Order: sequence, then structure tokens, then C-alpha cells
Amino acid sequence: MSEPGLEEYGELAAEIREILISAEELQAKVRQIGRAISQDYAGRSPLLVGVLKGVVLFMADLLRAVTIPVEVDFLAVSSYSSEARQKSGLVRLEKDLETSITGRHVLFVEDVIDTGLTLNYLLRNLRARQPASLEVCVLFNKAENRLIDIPIKYKGFDLPDRFVVGYGLDYQEKYRNLPFVGLLKPEALRK
Ligand code: IMP
Ligand code: MG
Repeated sequence: MSEPGLEEYGELAAEIREILISAEELQAKVRQIGRAISQDYAGRSPLLVGVLKGVVLFMADLLRAVTIPVEVDFLAVSSYSSEARQKSGLVRLEKDLETSITGRHVLFVEDVIDTGLTLNYLLRNLRARQPASLEVCVLFNKAENRLIDIPIKYKGFDLPDRFVVGYGLDYQEKYRNLPFVGLLKPEALRK
């Protein structure tokens, strides 16, 4: 089964100004990360942990690219609206993991790291549960906005400080289903 071409996305594609990373580039990179994880974690049955919802496309493709036994689990968070809380990265855990991670090899899989505040908060939370190891795998790294250093073990692409959509990333919950990553036209961003 081949993926639908851009023109088949009709009204969604019409709102994209430019494709930054094609579906083919994304798939090739995800396969490469999957191979690296399979080698590095051989014999350790890692637990892949993701934050809903942005990571679901990356996680699904990454799981298929990993060839060793793995498990997967998800967290869901919501950000507090006040500026002070946003600056601390404090989030409310809307859904916790179903798996105990104590003594497990945990790989935190993120779609995008921007300031790093959210991820830093979540990593501290997970570290307190005493996993055997805790590493980070991120598909899109926006280094320009980083406020807190996050050690990254697997990285897909460096992105400029631009707002992008597609491959799981949304604008007002739309565009997650696009198989590529692109920039929105200004008129779509004003909606
Ligand atoms: P931060 O690293 O704490 O600043 O938060 C990163 C979060 O902001 C990600 O998990 C996304 O939900 C969201 N985000 C950052 N950049 C983008 C983007 O370009 N498009 C869509 N969502 C984004
Ligand atoms: Mg996210």
C-alpha cells in the first residue's frame, strides 16, 4: 500500500506553505533510529514511553522499525495556563503509565523538544521511580529555544525555531495525519 500523494489531502494540503521533511525522509530516519535502538538495547527488553498525542505517528513507525522485544506505554499531560507554571514546566499528569518502571530500561520517545521544560519535568518524575536506565529519543529537536539542557540519545532532525505541523504535530488539533512535516500558510495560522 503506498501513501496518498499530497494532492489527495485536498483542503489540508492547500494550507501547507512548504514541506520541510518529506514522508520518505521521515520513514528512512525512523528506520535508522529503530535499528540503532535494536542494537543498543538487545537483551534488555526496553519500555518505550511516549506523551500523547503528538508522538503517536512516530511511536507507531518506530515500534515497527525495532526488531527486538519491546513494550510501550503512554502518559498524557496538560499544561497549566499561568505563565509562572509554564516557565517551570509543571504539567498535570492526566494519565499515568500503566507499567511500573522500577528496574526497567526506559526510553522516553518525544515528537519535539522545544524549550525542554515539559520533558525535564517528566524526566524528573520518571527518574524518581528508579528505572534501571532512562534515555531520550526525539524526532524533532528545536535547539534554539532550549532553556534546559536535555541529554538526547537518539535524534531525528534539527528544526529551526518555526512552528510546524504534520506527522503527529498539530495546530488546533488538525494536521496530525499528514505523513510529512510542513509550515502552515499565514492564513491557516490566523484561524
Ligand atoms: P517544550 O519543550 O516544553 O517547550 O514543549 C514542547 C511541546 O510543545 C511539544 O511536545 C509539542 O506539543 C509542542 N510543540 C513545540 N513545537 C511545536 C511545533 O512546531 N508544532 C506543534 N507543536 C509543537
Ligand atoms: Mg508532545
